[in-house]
Amino acid sequence: MRLFKTVAGLRTYLASKKDKQTIGLVPTMGALHQGHLSLINRAMAEVDVVVVSIFVNPLQFAPHEDLGQYPRQLETDAQLCEQSGVKAIFAPTPEEMGINGTFEQPTEVMPPPTMISSLCGPFRQGHFQGVATIVTKLLNIISPDVAYFGEKDAQQLAIIRQLVKDLNLPVVIKGCPIIREPSGLAYSSRNQYLSPEEKKEAIALYQGLKAGKQAFMAGERHSNVLIACVKDKITSYSPITLQYVECVHPQTLQPLDTIEEAGLLAIAAYVGSTRLIDNVILRVRKPIIAIDGPAGAGKSTVTRRVAKALNLTYLDTGAMYRGIAWLVFNSGIPVEDESAIAELVSQADLKFIPSSDDQPPQVMINGENVTKMIRTPQITALVSPISAYAAVREKLVNYQQKLGKFGGVVAEGRDIGTNVFPDAEVKIFLTASVQERARRRLRDFQSQGQDNIDIQQLERDIEQRDYQDTHRTLAPLLKANDAIKLNTDGLTIEQVVSKIVHLCQLTY
Ligand code: PAJ
Repeated sequence: MRLFKTVAGLRTYLASKKDKQTIGLVPTMGALHQGHLSLINRAMAEVDVVVVSIFVNPLQFAPHEDLGQYPRQLETDAQLCEQSGVKAIFAPTPEEMGINGTFEQPTEVMPPPTMISSLCGPFRQGHFQGVATIVTKLLNIISPDVAYFGEKDAQQLAIIRQLVKDLNLPVVIKGCPIIREPSGLAYSSRNQYLSPEEKKEAIALYQGLKAGKQAFMAGERHSNVLIACVKDKITSYSPITLQYVECVHPQTLQPLDTIEEAGLLAIAAYVGSTRLIDNVILRVRKPIIAIDGPAGAGKSTVTRRVAKALNLTYLDTGAMYRGIAWLVFNSGIPVEDESAIAELVSQADLKFIPSSDDQPPQVMINGENVTKMIRTPQITALVSPISAYAAVREKLVNYQQKLGKFGGVVAEGRDIGTNVFPDAEVKIFLTASVQERARRRLRDFQSQGQDNIDIQQLERDIEQRDYQDTHRTLAPLLKANDAIKLNTDGLTIEQVVSKIVHLCQLTY
């Protein structure tokens, strides 16, 4: 592992990697704990080179706040990073970051005023401007493909997503779930300030939020009632001083009267002299089931049947990729011309109409019904190269997320549980041994009258495909941490379907 203190050192190191490898950034202020490590582990699983920045950013602390006192423990942090497989730490001085230098006030990035008028914004004047500025600088210094942020700082995450969109920064932002101690207290570098007594009191934050979530699950949609639930629970539980309890829209951060789709129920409180924050997301939507796994594990058949059994919509993502492949084919653009394809696809109007019976879904591209045309061998040959393009992936992931906004869908693929629907209620990683998948494929060929197939060759093909799928730079095949692995060796389709249906019934 390398530790860089200068922009020049880090940039030189990364320049040699960028051509062939993907870069992931985990920005932190150090004093690393399980929350930070969950971001690092996620990055480790998804990109080739993980860079962790450790910088206690003066721009995001007000003069009366804890900049001087904030825990600094670079040596321990470096050990933790090394153990996790991090390739490089970036730990610059404020001067190196252009702060406290010649200009006392560098150019700053101002988040939209509406996003800093709620939650922590009014209590921490200038804070999010300082965060937005430093994150923009880090993204420009490192140019990562992906940057990871925790949902623990939900307002920060929403502001950074907006910043990346508004400033057209070429990076994918990934939000990671809140990691909590067994008591429910969210990990935070500031927990170090708490006395053992205060640590017990601090549990009240999550207890309160849980009470709010329970009321929501029982059908309550009015923010004022949910907020009252949180406050009641906390005041009955602990002597901590609440700063705010608010319920806002998770993306726009605007206060909500009632929750129509989703709400962010968030809290800030002083426990002694330590300020802590926490939140829960409340979603109205129906459940989402994500089924990922290697090719040939029977995902599409299983997914279709699970959807039918649970009366949910089967989101045939394969048909969508076929639709885009047809669009490219029909336009005459050569498959190698990635930029022309990006231009074409970004402007395309795609409509996917799921069918309620056993019929395939209707796919409309720019107003034309292409349902039948996407099933030809030419299109089959084009799907794989076309779906490897970032612009195609981006278009379809956004579209799938739009379709899943209100839930009630079952989707299958390679990165549904990790990337498309990371909040899915049930995540299944459907797999089978190479030998079993080869046997199934052999049976398929035989049923089509093809008897001269070599099973060993099939096994080699499957191994090669698995290798390619798990090593793709874009959307690699990955088991989500919270996915349940289901090995289908020796199971019939009916058995697999009934296992998944049972799991779903247990979960929601
Ligand atoms: P810091 O507080 O060190 O947090 C770094 C990242 O870890 C943030 O994205 C934060 O949301 C995430 N994180 C912290 N506690 C977590 C938990 N319990 N579960 C999951 N994720 C958690 O946030 C900052 O630093 C700074 O503002 C920064 C983005 C680095 C800019 O200076």
